[in-house]
Amino acid sequence: MDLTGHVVIVTGSSSGIGEAVARRLAATGARIVVNSASSVAAGERLAEELGEACYVQGDISAPGTAHALVEAARERWGRLDGLVNNAAVTADVPLADIDAVTVDHWNRVLGVNVVGTFLVSQAALPLLREAEDGWILNITSIAGIRQTGSSLPYAVSKAAVDHLTTLLAKHAGGGVRVNAVAPGLVATPWTETWDQVKEGVTAMAPLHRVATPEDIADACVGIIGARYATGQTLLVDGGLGLVL
Ligand SMILES: NC(=O)c1ccc[n+]([C@@H]2O[C@H](COP(=O)([O-])OP(=O)(O)OC[C@H]3O[C@@H](n4cnc5c(N)ncnc54)[C@H](OP(=O)(O)O)[C@@H]3O)[C@@H](O)[C@H]2O)c1
Repeated sequence: MDLTGHVVIVTGSSSGIGEAVARRLAATGARIVVNSASSVAAGERLAEELGEACYVQGDISAPGTAHALVEAARERWGRLDGLVNNAAVTADVPLADIDAVTVDHWNRVLGVNVVGTFLVSQAALPLLREAEDGWILNITSIAGIRQTGSSLPYAVSKAAVDHLTTLLAKHAGGGVRVNAVAPGLVATPWTETWDQVKEGVTAMAPLHRVATPEDIADACVGIIGARYATGQTLLVDGGLGLVL
């Protein structure tokens, strides 16, 4: 894939999957708007390393962040071709512990994962419609498809973003394609301490390993390059969903 001259926003790109996707897209020639909520030094470092890139600090659910991300692309390069909605949070409550889930957990997780993803997409769409081949790619999760995940609000939020993907694909207009990649378990800072879960996935999944962020970047590049696909969620889980 050759994205020379294209401009792409990758939310939550200071580490993990977002960083791997930003690096991969930059390697194909894209200019990247890097973003994170609080890891400013890591985000600035990545933008500097990528060269044709800039960094925008902001929580995607906070007022003004969506606009700031899109304006960074417009001011610097005058265009926007793609948006990777990768930033997300979970609640520190085990999936099965229904009694422990609070309104604050719901508000935070849905606020970032669903509302934040929507707000950045909404702000990006006018420029994406002007692009020759504009696209949005949402990073969801196996947790939105199977009865698994790091918390109940998180799993529900990812199912919501899969449905948002279909609705945006239907109504975005301007030929903008909207798809999602739903990873299984990926070795990132988020899952750094999940040794037992990793052992379980390695034993159960038909591909017998946990994903690397680069595995997910491969899938992202594949679906970004699939120019006649829209409204789809691609499950990239080493086959884990087949045995859950
Ligand atoms: N790792 C997995 O096993 C796995 C599996 C399925 C799906 N996913 C999905 O993959 C995506 C990335 O996860 P990861 O494992 O790569 O996590 P990660 O390494 O913890 O990275 C998360 C990134 O998102 C940023 N972020 C978090 N909240 C944000 C917010 N409100 N606004 C803007 N940026 C925010 C973080 O920056 P700050 O440090 O500044 O907050 C960081 O750059 C998420 O959507 C996650 O749900 C991960």
